[in-house]
Amino acid sequence: MNKFTPAKAAGARSVDDVTGSRRLRRMRKADWSRRLVQENRLSVDDLIWPIFVVEGRNVREPIAAMPGVFRLSVDLAVKEAERAAKLGIPALATFPNVDLGLRDQTGSHILDPENIINRATRAIKDAVPEIGIITDAALDPFTSHGHDGILRDGIIVNDETVEQVAAAAVIQAAAGADIIAPSDMMDGRIGGIRDALDANGFQDVAIMSYATKFASAFYGPYREAVGTAGLLKGDKKTYYMDHANSDEAVREAEQDIAEGADMLMVKPGLPYLDIIRRLKDEFQMPTFAYQVSGEYSMIKAADSNGWIDGEKAMLESLLAFKRAGCDGILTYFAPEVAVMLKG
Ligand code: PBG
Repeated sequence: MNKFTPAKAAGARSVDDVTGSRRLRRMRKADWSRRLVQENRLSVDDLIWPIFVVEGRNVREPIAAMPGVFRLSVDLAVKEAERAAKLGIPALATFPNVDLGLRDQTGSHILDPENIINRATRAIKDAVPEIGIITDAALDPFTSHGHDGILRDGIIVNDETVEQVAAAAVIQAAAGADIIAPSDMMDGRIGGIRDALDANGFQDVAIMSYATKFASAFYGPYREAVGTAGLLKGDKKTYYMDHANSDEAVREAEQDIAEGADMLMVKPGLPYLDIIRRLKDEFQMPTFAYQVSGEYSMIKAADSNGWIDGEKAMLESLLAFKRAGCDGILTYFAPEVAVMLKG
């Protein structure tokens, strides 16, 4: 015999009594009503597409850890930029895989106006002037040790790195970059870059600060893409943020805004939605997330195993950034989602 009382005990209140007749399911009952009350939407205008460039002609190298992503020679990067512009993607972010022979202790090749990043910028701007180009001024693809800064006696030296990053930013701006996005997390880099850009007549070139970049395990596939995985010894904890911290993220962003950042970015993305929301509420700045390589590859891998619906997971993750307060998202899904949004 069941000794428990039935769910609806004598005298229990009805659901309408419990809820005061407020029923949130009413607006969820049909597709039309769900669409009507939807609070956030993803549009192609929210997308920034990170692409990888490599030496050569007609080169389209698959990146094993990033299914569907390729290293492109400049000629093919131009083709992809044309496709992106046609799809309505507002901007590209370029990252180089630099020949190993050109990498050194200080990342000096970043200062070569003819390096692959600057050639890619010029070629894309030439062919597709209507698309925005965002370049990273960090040293990691150019150093022989894969760190984002100049390494001396086991230490990433801050001020010397800032000088070099600022000089690189000027060269990138001269090549046609519209936004400089330094990802190195050195102290004072935003002010250093702003001063250098202004001193050289690039007042209109904007700075997207990787304001809060966390020391993260989610960058793994990117390091394969740019060829730093085998070079990097140790970790980046002396310059990237501790992923346990949130107040410090606010201080980092505050500092970058004071130094002249035009836009803020949080990186990685999905594990840091709380940081995005905090920064948006605190500063009301144009705020972006970088859905990084590991986030992309996890969705792709689970999809190819048949464990999740990759397309739905992609859209859900991107909309989550909007809900958290993002104005836009750097994502390797950009062309795929742009096609989908068009259809
Ligand atoms: C380094 C840099 C990283 C990424 C872009 N630039 C992180 C790193 O290698 O430590 C990560 C991008 C991604 O994972 O998609 N300046």
